[in-house]
This record gives sequence, structure tokens and C-alpha cells, in this order.
Amino acid sequence: MQNILIKNIKGLAGILENNQAALRGANLNELQQIENAFLAIENGKIAYYGKMEEMAGINDWRNLEIIDAEGKFVIPAYCDSHSHIVFAKYRETEFVDRINGLTYEEIGEKGGGILNSANNLANLSEDELFESAMERLELVKSFGTGAIEIKSGYGLTVTSELKILRVIKRLKEASDLTIKATFLGAHAFPAEFKENNAGYIRQIIDEMLPVIEAENLADYIDVFCERNYFSPEQLDEILAAGVKHGLKPKIHVNQFSILGGVEIGVKHGAVSVDHLEEFDENDTVTMSKANTIATALPSCSFFLGIPYSPVKKMLKNNIAVALASDYNPGSTPSGNMQFVNSLACIQMKLTPEEALNSTTINGAYAMELGDEMGSITIGKKANLIITKKISSLAYIPYSFGENCVERIILSK
Ligand code: NIG
Ligand code: FE
Repeated sequence: MQNILIKNIKGLAGILENNQAALRGANLNELQQIENAFLAIENGKIAYYGKMEEMAGINDWRNLEIIDAEGKFVIPAYCDSHSHIVFAKYRETEFVDRINGLTYEEIGEKGGGILNSANNLANLSEDELFESAMERLELVKSFGTGAIEIKSGYGLTVTSELKILRVIKRLKEASDLTIKATFLGAHAFPAEFKENNAGYIRQIIDEMLPVIEAENLADYIDVFCERNYFSPEQLDEILAAGVKHGLKPKIHVNQFSILGGVEIGVKHGAVSVDHLEEFDENDTVTMSKANTIATALPSCSFFLGIPYSPVKKMLKNNIAVALASDYNPGSTPSGNMQFVNSLACIQMKLTPEEALNSTTINGAYAMELGDEMGSITIGKKANLIITKKISSLAYIPYSFGENCVERIILSK
């Protein structure tokens, strides 16, 4: 593996040594930065960094690529802890339906939405799904994503759910991004189980989970707890079964309604509870005492025109907040984490520093990768973004829609 020396860095930002857990509350705003810096990568790991005057000796390393980053910033690559990028087709016809007045929920009720994606996926081969997901991974990488969590959930049959998880397993091996897999068989009830919800839950618990454990196909279990989807009681039952099979929860809750899913997730030791566009006092109390990370998905709010998760309030209450893309064909057809940073600042009123930390170090913790990446720390994987020549770090969220990434360095 080639060693790399990046020198003359205008700003090296996101430095965190001795960090053991996600940043909570006011700490999210802390972003150490060194001006006129260097960073050296040895065997894929961050080996040294500091002021340019302290660089002596490294220039002589053998097998060394030297990158001049004059005028550029170096930051940790984004850690996108929530995505659904294994799917068959985009759903822009539903987008047009919404422009013409239907709501996301109405589209779901008339057979569009998740069930539409599941029908589209049923006939595709593992190879076809793998190819299109690889393309999406390359796309998000070009916008700076270095690690990503990917969910199943567009299968909704034993065969198709396992097919998606096998595709994710192949992506883990083939891609240079670091990937975590989440089993979301409980994404929606298939049409044939509309009147027999318990029957589908039996399939999830008795037929899918044992194979997933035996073939080591997932790291986490997810459930979409929402009106017309999975009830809190069903969430509780499925999470308990997932935990028995070695999967920690990372769940969809409070997107449209508050049903008590946050508390149930925390009870089962959820790594994260995600969406949280709706968030009440009970949830605030629960999350301020929990180790569970609150993951908000501002691109989904942007695209569906629903409320943004109240992350400022969460930070005031000392909650650990991460931000992720939710890249999927229905509610968020974008995996651009720079845009997530822009929305965080523009719509959620986070500072550029809070936005960056919530999409790097806290995103890493929301995938249990916090000790491996997400910050500039000696010994961590060298997963880094070198920006284009920009005036300051705040330029990244400010210049929404522009791609500020010049190069991404990834090691596995
Ligand atoms: O996270 N809310 C549930 N699942 C996805 C969207 C699914 C879809 O519309 O295809 C989400 O937004
Ligand atoms: Fe999602």
C-alpha cells in the first residue's frame, strides 16, 4: 500500500484525539483545526499530522505519494449512517404525483411507495442489483462519503430480502467504502399480508432471521414504526427477535407520528433511532439519558416537504445527534452529504462545525465505526476528503449544490 503525504494544507479540520463516544450537546460544535498543516498516511492509517514546520523527515519516506494541498482543506470523509441504496428503479412518477397534489402517505396507500419498489425489485437478479448499487456507491463517494450503512427492505419476501442482503455483502467486499448492513424486512406489509400482519412477522422471525444469522448477512435490525406500517407492539416483538439473533436495532421512528417507538428502541439498546421529524418532551427525556444516537435525515424533509427534526433542541438537551442521507428512491433520491450539511445549516440552524461533526464522527458512531474513522486521529483509517481550493470550511455548506470535493482517499 502506498504511503501518502499531504502537505501545505490550508486547514486540517476534524481533529479529535482520545474520543470515546459520539459528541453530545454543546460538544458537537467543537472542531479543532490546524492551519498550514501536513498529514502523513502509512499503511492506510493516519500516522502523523501537525504544522508544516513539524514535518521534517517524512519527505524521505520510501514509496511515498506527495500531494500538495495548498489552498485546500482536509477533513474526515463523510460517514452516512442511513441509506437504502439497493433498489431497482427510481420513482420519479410518484414525484410528479406529489407535485399534482397527492401526499407521500396517499401514494403509499394506493400501492405506490415501498410496495412499488418491492414489485420492481422482485424480478431483478443479484448481479443487476449489485451493478446499480455499485454505481450509486461511486456517486456518493464522489461527493465525499467514505462509509455508509445500507438497508434491505425493498424485498418483503424471504427470497428478495435475502437477495438484497447478499448484494450488500458483495458490496462490502467489492467497494472501497466501509459498509454496514441492516435488515429491514419490516419496512412495509406486503399486499398479501395486509389482513394477516402476524403471518408476515412470522416469516421475518422464523424464516429470515435464522438465515441472516447463519450467513452473517446483517449487522443491524430495522423496523419502520409508523401508522399503516408497523405498530409499537410489532416493533417490540421484531426487535426482541433481532437482538436474539445478534442484531442491534437501528430503527425508523417518528417520521410522521409519535407512537412510542423511541422508547422501545432505547429499551432494546438501539445504536440509533432515525428520522425523528416529530419529537416530543417524552422523547427528549428518553434520549437525553440514552446512549442511543438521534439520527436526523434533512434531505428527506426537504424532498417530502415535511418538518425538519428539531436538532437544535436535541443539542440543548445534551442528546447525541448524527445526520445521514436516507438515500432511497421514494423519500430521498440523493446521497449527497454536502447537501445534508447545507440543509443542516440553512434549515436546522446548525453551525458548519456542528453539521460537519454530525456527518463525520457522530455518523461513524451511529454505525459503531467511531473508533475506526470519522475524525483526524492517529491510528484511525485514513478516510479523508481533500477539498477544492475554497475560502473556508463554511464555504462547503454555504455553496449548496456545488461539489467541493476534489479527491477522496479511502483505505479499508
Ligand atoms: O426512510 N420511511 C421509510 N422508508 C424510507 C422511504 C421508503 C420509500 O419511500 O421507498 C425512508 O424515508
Ligand atoms: Fe430510511
